[in-house]
Amino acid sequence: MALKFEASFPQGLCPGWSVIVKGETSSSENDFEINFLSESGDQIAFHFNPRFSEGNIICNSFLGSRWGQEERADTFPMEAKEPFLVEIYSDQEHFQVFVDDNKIMQYRHRVKQFSGITKVQILNDINISSVEITRRELY
Ligand code: GAL
Repeated sequence: MALKFEASFPQGLCPGWSVIVKGETSSSENDFEINFLSESGDQIAFHFNPRFSEGNIICNSFLGSRWGQEERADTFPMEAKEPFLVEIYSDQEHFQVFVDDNKIMQYRHRVKQFSGITKVQILNDINISSVEITRRELY
């Protein structure tokens, strides 16, 4: 696990915050992840994992020491070595995921205690050019 970025927000990131990551991967063999972590233990409220070798975007949560049921995006709108922009925005019901301004999926919140979701991490094969974390009006 190569940690590329980490930020903590004690006041909580959900709902209403938007995390915008600009970057590219160095190889088509690899993958990266963006995780929204819950402060209670090692829980991952939302795991966003594009896998370039498979051409799949896998989303899941890691709660109670185990992975839950995976959810997959219908498309894979990224290319290795090409810049992309991923935005993950949360409203009351979902994490909403946009790639290059197109909505590709939504993921229903499994962690209901929003105030505990206080950390975002980016791991593995991504060269990050910027990360922007902004408060948005709820849609
Ligand atoms: C596993 C993988 C984890 C995570 C999980 C998602 O196979 O090892 O890193 O991506 O799938 O369901």
